[in-house]
Order: sequence, then structure tokens, then C-alpha cells
Amino acid sequence: MNNFSLKNDFLLGVATASTQIEGGDAQTNWSEWYKMGMIKDNTSPSVCNDHYNRYIEDSYLLKEMGIKIYRMGIEWARINPSMGVFDSEVIKHYRKEIELLISLGIRPLLTLHHFSNPLWFEKLGAFTKKENVKYFLDFARFVIDNVGDIVSDYITINEPNVYASFSYLYGIWYPGHKNFKETYEVISNLSYCHIECYKMIHEFRKDYEETNVSFSNHVRVFDPAKPRYKTITKLSEYLYQGALSKAFYKGIFKWPMKNHFNVKKGEYVDFIGINYYSRSFISGLKDGIKPNTPRNDLNWEIYPKGIVRVSEKLYDIIKRPIWITENGTCDNTDSYRSLYIYEHLKEISESNLPFKRFYHWCFLDNWEWAEGESARFGIVYNDFKTQERKIKPSGYFYMDIIKNNGVTIDAYNKYVLNEKYNIK
Ligand code: BGC
Repeated sequence: MNNFSLKNDFLLGVATASTQIEGGDAQTNWSEWYKMGMIKDNTSPSVCNDHYNRYIEDSYLLKEMGIKIYRMGIEWARINPSMGVFDSEVIKHYRKEIELLISLGIRPLLTLHHFSNPLWFEKLGAFTKKENVKYFLDFARFVIDNVGDIVSDYITINEPNVYASFSYLYGIWYPGHKNFKETYEVISNLSYCHIECYKMIHEFRKDYEETNVSFSNHVRVFDPAKPRYKTITKLSEYLYQGALSKAFYKGIFKWPMKNHFNVKKGEYVDFIGINYYSRSFISGLKDGIKPNTPRNDLNWEIYPKGIVRVSEKLYDIIKRPIWITENGTCDNTDSYRSLYIYEHLKEISESNLPFKRFYHWCFLDNWEWAEGESARFGIVYNDFKTQERKIKPSGYFYMDIIKNNGVTIDAYNKYVLNEKYNIK
């Protein structure tokens, strides 16, 4: 049978990030990278979905789609445009947006850091220097003081490994460095930021009924291309996600992570937040792709079983409920996204792990970092010229899953049956 049900207390939502949807003129590492001509299709982050001005219509669209949980960001550089300056109008704007969502029955999961820094902070060396973390923590404090009473769920840091490796190891994001040591300085400093925010939020909300804090851990499956690559595969996995997971979850610091701030061992997440997209097929120190596999439009392998495989590994480190804080795919013509959603949710529904939430990446087609507007991940189509939003077939499929808490035979036949992946 192709139909399946999700567990009773399982919630489905969507995710976004402020820099990718808001537009406007915040001075960030991304506005700078654009100025340097480093965005593939040369589109500017000042456009995106103009969500900063259209958040009301977008919130109503979420409601219309039946979405009850929504992961969203806030732009550090807007709130804190220069060192020591915090803009009270901007934080009021975000508070209004959050209040609107809550009044519509949508529970926000707020991300504090999602790949974007104010340019003034970049000029100081961003997270490569431990003396700079205080600036991030001041910003976090300001946010919690202003919305901590109405927001119960938080992601402190999004994908520390992706942010640090793209910016400091592979050199494909601002500032374009290629330096192993710097990469781990950044991840180590971010682990401290996460743990401090964890404590700060819990301290602020100690009299509230429920508080959920974690970070979004980007985890991949690592498989060896041949048995002789087993050792290098283990090492790659450890360097990419293993070492950092133990530091962020438990304050256990092992090479190459550094405990610059003498963090004590403890338990620093209330749930396991997972961003899952793909698998690395290893035959050396470079990332590889398994041949003859389904691919998305960015040539990432589509590997649904991986969503449970990565979750098992993290659950071994710490026993917490699992929230998939991102999963989705780049499908520019929406021709296999429903199949992708179906297969990943099916894996989850068949697993005995305590999966509790799933945030589809993304709500709207948006500005996909160095790919610009050219890579579409949304279940809602966006016309970047007119800013018209249109629910895609995969969006209607997702709405149907939410309504029925699972995939019915009718929905399967209507949305999934005729979809196929490209195999490469
Ligand atoms: C990021 C998102 C991004 C998505 C698709 C994740 O790494 O958190 O911001 O758009 O992947 O590339």
C-alpha cells in the first residue's frame, strides 16, 4: 500500500531564513558577497521575496495552507546595524510578525543565526576570534529580552559546519578563505555561542511552562565508495559532523574542536534539530556522489533512507525528541518534489525513533545564497519580478498531508504516482 499515517503528535510545518526572504538593504556578508560579483545568477539579496514588507500576506498564506509550526529567522544586521546600536523599531517589527503568527494559530521556531552576519562584525573577523562572540551574545540577549516572553522554541545556530566550511575551508562564501584551522576556530566559537544562548533562554524562561532550544545540525550520510575507503569515510564524518555534535550537545570537546571558554560537560539541547539533504560517497578527502542515483537540480543525491540513518546516529549521542528542522529539495519545475516529500516522510513514519516535528525547506522559492534566485526549493512558487506567490502542486500535496496527518491513497495517486527523479 502506498498510503501511510504519521504519528498522532507529529507536526508538519515549513522553514525560512530572514536573509533569504526579506530583501532590503541590511549590510551583511551576503550584500558584500553580491557586490563582489560572487552570486551565480548575479541576483541581489536586496530583492528576495520582499517578505519584510509582505509578512502579513505571507502569514495569512501559511494559515491558509494549514501550517501550524513555522521556522523563521531574524536579521542580526537589521536589528544591530552597527556595534552597540540596537534598533527598537526593527525588533518591534519582528515582534508584530511573531504576534500575528501566534494569533493565526502558528507556532514560531525562531532561528538566531542563519549564515548571516552584520558587515561591521565581519570586518572584526567574525567568529574566527573568540573575543568577538560577545557581540553575537549581546544581540541574542536583546532578542530574548524583547520576544522571549512570546517565543518558546529556538534554533540558536543554523548548520555551523556548512557555514564554517563554505566560508573558511572551501572559500565559496564570504570571506572566501581556505583555512582548516580557522574553520574549527569558527565552529568552536559557535559551539560556545550555542551553549550560552541555551542557558540564557532557559534562564529568561524559567517560569514558563515549555521551552525548547537546540541548533540545526546539518548531517549527511557518509558511505565509502569501496571497502578500502572505510577509514577515510569515518574520518570525514567525524570532521564534518561527529566532533561538533558532541561539543554542541554535551560540551565534550575533542580535536579539532577547542574549548576556549572552559564550557562544562552537560546537556545543551532540548531536542535534536536535524537538517538533512543528502549523502556523501567517499573515496578520498573530497566529497563524492554515488553514481546511478536519483539527483535533484543541483546534482545532490536524493537518498530518503538517510533521514533515519543520520537521526539514529545523533540519537545515540543524546536521547531527545527529533525535529527535522529542514528537509526538501531543489526542483525548479516541481516535477518530483511531491515524490521526495512522500519518500522522506514515509521513512520517518516507519521508524521507531521519537520524530516529533518536520519543517519542509522551504516555504517559498527564495534567494538561495550563492545560487541566487536560480535554485527553487519552495512548495510555493515566487515570481521575483511581481512578487506573486502561487501554491505549487507539491504545496497542495503538503496541505493534504497536514489535513489527513498522512498520505491517503487519493493523494498518492494524484500527486506522487506519476513523478520520477532524474537518475545520473
Ligand atoms: C540551509 C538553507 C538552504 C538549504 C538549501 C541549508 O543548508 O540552512 O538556508 O537554503 O540548505 O541549500
